[in-house]
Amino acid sequence: MAPHAADIDTSPVTATDDQVPSSKLAAAGISPNKTEATPLIKPLNYGGSLDEYPSFDVTSVIGREFPTASILEILKDDAKIRVLRNHGYVINHTDAISGEMERLNMTQTALERGVVFFRNQNDLTFEDQKTLGQKLGELTGKPDTSKLHRHALLNGQRGIAVDGNGNKLDDEISVISSEQLRKFYKERFSPHAKRTASEGWHADITFEHVPSDYAILQIKTLPEDAGGDTLWASGYEVYDRLSPTWQRIADGLTATHYAPGFLDVKNDHGVGLIDETEVLLTTEVWISKQNIVRTKPVTGWKSIFGAGQQINKGWINDVTERESNLIKDYFLELIAQNHDLQVRFKWNKNDVAIWDNRSVFHTATNDSDGKRQGNRVVSIGEKPYFDPNSASRQEALTARSG
Ligand code: SIN
Repeated sequence: MAPHAADIDTSPVTATDDQVPSSKLAAAGISPNKTEATPLIKPLNYGGSLDEYPSFDVTSVIGREFPTASILEILKDDAKIRVLRNHGYVINHTDAISGEMERLNMTQTALERGVVFFRNQNDLTFEDQKTLGQKLGELTGKPDTSKLHRHALLNGQRGIAVDGNGNKLDDEISVISSEQLRKFYKERFSPHAKRTASEGWHADITFEHVPSDYAILQIKTLPEDAGGDTLWASGYEVYDRLSPTWQRIADGLTATHYAPGFLDVKNDHGVGLIDETEVLLTTEVWISKQNIVRTKPVTGWKSIFGAGQQINKGWINDVTERESNLIKDYFLELIAQNHDLQVRFKWNKNDVAIWDNRSVFHTATNDSDGKRQGNRVVSIGEKPYFDPNSASRQEALTARSG
């Protein structure tokens, strides 16, 4: 059994409105409107310099694999780097989305397919991974205050090296280590735990006021036995599975994402969390109020965002506790029980997955006893927003083909 879902709060579900730590928020000077939502960016036309690399859609809904492409080569391509550099922060001006920009479709691919896979990236360093994580977000116009996330728990303080030489620590890499996670989250990640695997579905760090756009995971050590696959599910498609009536209800809902479990780990194991000076603003609060339905920049598509593990201890706002639980259960059911909106990836050493935390959910599979370890970069994106005029994925694809 290998525990891998790094951001999961594994405490029992007991959320009630009484537990809202609003005084904590106020003490930290945080108001729900602290950060302005990022305006909708004009959708890109389909194009793509990655067309030179063989690729295939892993399912019809989610996932694309590039079996032979080298991320390093893509990163080192001057034309592409120039596009990254020149367009960086200004592409939210629609006229800056030029033909050259459209050629660089890695971001677009990740945006539309939800998750992309690259095999055998032996030469990719953790520094390259960080560069890519930051560039992907810059390319889609994220605010210049958004950098790479530093995980409350899975940071350099855990003392796990992120480089091949075994001597480099880096707070901007979350080391996903089965051994660490078993230590911190015993029950949830113990072999043969009598819990429902679907508890693991989540998107990374949604408890942050400005949550993640992209995550990049490279698995460096595979369990000697078997297993350790990761699954992703399309939030776009979850939205499309709702009836029009339910879509309208969901459009109007917000959820409070709340993940106090890091404090339990801190207290139970006596471990330090991230840099104390930033604790209040970035980590110790671990609570955010977000739209249930989120419009994705660039694609302009609607995705279910408020669902899964990170609202497990959170709640749906402005409804009864019973209604909140029903809605949470229903959305999780749509994610977990529809295997036709999921993709499952079987890792080989040094494979890389890049996913969009704004429109996909994911979960590790804790089915092996062996050691599994990888480096994950989580990029901070923009404050989520909902545009009532945005389309669902199915609507947009129908319009594109018609
Ligand atoms: C994660 O939850 O981001 C890590 C997923 C994995 O370990 O497969």
